[in-house]
Amino acid sequence: MGNPCFDQISPISHDRHIVKADLDLETKNKYWSLGLKAISRGEVGAIVMAGGQATRLGAVEPKGTLSLGLGLSSTDSLFWHQAARIARLLKLAKKMYPDSSPTIPWLVMTSDSTGEETRKHLIKVVKDVGLSMDDIIIFDQAEIPCFDFNGKFMLRSRSSIATAPDGNGGMYAALRPVIPKLKDLGVKYFHVYCVDNILCRVADPHLIGCVIDMDADCAGTTVEKTNPSESVGVVCLESGHVRVLEYSEIPKELAEKRDPNGKLSFRAGSVAMHYFTMEFLEKVCDESVRLPFHVAKKKVPYVDLNTDQLVKPTEPNGIKLEQFVFDVFPHAKRFLVWEVLRNEEFSPLKNAEHVGRDCVSTCRRDFDVECRRWLSHSGIELPKHNPVYISPLDSYEGEGLSEDTRVATNGIIKEIRELLIENGDVHNNS
Ligand code: UD1
Repeated sequence: MGNPCFDQISPISHDRHIVKADLDLETKNKYWSLGLKAISRGEVGAIVMAGGQATRLGAVEPKGTLSLGLGLSSTDSLFWHQAARIARLLKLAKKMYPDSSPTIPWLVMTSDSTGEETRKHLIKVVKDVGLSMDDIIIFDQAEIPCFDFNGKFMLRSRSSIATAPDGNGGMYAALRPVIPKLKDLGVKYFHVYCVDNILCRVADPHLIGCVIDMDADCAGTTVEKTNPSESVGVVCLESGHVRVLEYSEIPKELAEKRDPNGKLSFRAGSVAMHYFTMEFLEKVCDESVRLPFHVAKKKVPYVDLNTDQLVKPTEPNGIKLEQFVFDVFPHAKRFLVWEVLRNEEFSPLKNAEHVGRDCVSTCRRDFDVECRRWLSHSGIELPKHNPVYISPLDSYEGEGLSEDTRVATNGIIKEIRELLIENGDVHNNS
């Protein structure tokens, strides 16, 4: 796939665009049980892309290992959340299919930049949520050299070239040696997602059930893009083939184009959560499939040869070449867009706090709002002055909540009942 031909770009057709919020209850329940059935048979794997250097966030630790400060566990990171959701799904699958032994192999892609810290962190996380390291496969993506703006290699030290991970599309080459093991395990479907979204429904049974039911080979989760300049890629068609136009590539006229209803024509905002069948994954992991490299102007640390000191630039000073995970979409034969509600499923950690969006405090805020929405569905209203966080170990998407449920509020774990009593002004509608 080369540079986009902008005059050949069109939105995805309606029949391949499933809007989760428009599904009726019967269909949703059918998808949910189909998805849990696949999990109960060990057919669903979750792949988290966690090899990025998170330069916008500017943290020293890998993004997935940072504590979010919710007070739900001693590790309390994005990885912890994801592991807890997997543990919860295994319980739900066992409950629905009692004779089964559910498993969800969890594949974690790391890089030179994130590998060591991530491994150490996962050992703690896995223990904390009751999973086993045997259920985790950690694999490393490749690193490639960085260039300066004159096309010359940059030096990390006198004797080494500055390198960077090869983009999240490096996942395919990195997975190639793991495919036989995954086939032996009997994995048939994969949920592939970014490490950074606190609301990510890892291995979502609704999605898995839908794509199984509709026999899709590949799917992309989207939210409705409402702001033309938002930093999300858009899923669209180019000459009949599915592709994602990345936010850095889409021309302003296309980004701002509106349909007769006033909505953005290209509004299928990709939230970097994807679905692949084993067959599709195997096909695109083949050496014959070559993905393009995209140019990203980034801040590349380099050695100052006068002082031998490592310089960490504050402005982009070099070029990293990156492959993109969604550049395999044109190989899909039966692609589906799976549109979800942003407030329910998308709140990524991208930036440092001072940016004020997609940062730790907005992740916390959005998770609090989501937990309250779940509680409200169960007839429980809590006052807004303190945040309330529900452990994913207790609820995957709002199910099973009662006054006995324990929540974290201001770093302390309490039963909802206690909170209701403490706040005499609050009533429970259930
Ligand atoms: C990504 C998507 C964009 C989407 C947005 C939504 C890609 C190429 N772009 O953009 O379409 O709208 O998320 O949040 O997917 N990663 C690696 N290895 C790498 C580089 C990145 O594993 O070499 C991982 C990161 O750890 C992260 C994910 O890929 O989990 C996305 O990387 P990031 O740089 O945050 O992507 P965005 O530019 O935000």
